[in-house]
Amino acid sequence: MEVRIGSVDDVRREGCRIVEVHGRPVGVISVGDEFFAVHDRCPHMGASMCTGSLSGTFLPAEPHELVYGRDDRVIRCPWHGWEFDLETGRSLLEPERVGLRTYRVTQEGDEVVLHA
Ligand code: FES
Repeated sequence: MEVRIGSVDDVRREGCRIVEVHGRPVGVISVGDEFFAVHDRCPHMGASMCTGSLSGTFLPAEPHELVYGRDDRVIRCPWHGWEFDLETGRSLLEPERVGLRTYRVTQEGDEVVLHA
């Protein structure tokens, strides 16, 4: 199933556009030249992930070293701060147990298309 999301320019301008896929809200998120899509309900208490924020995270490093990376590849829930990998949907804290469903998104000409 393909869902036409809208024009590349419009989705980029909005940053995140919520669409319905199989009756469920999905947030299509623009990051630089790329697009990602995740289920738009946080698995904790249901906040809209689209109203959250994007950031990076601290990467595994040697003791006493702080290495920041994955900039704009982490989406943070606006209510209580749970964080998820934008590409895989997995929780940063409990990746085996908690996550957001992700969807493939492509750019076709001037249109953003979600594949469900
Ligand atoms: S609703 Fe998302 S962290 Fe609580």
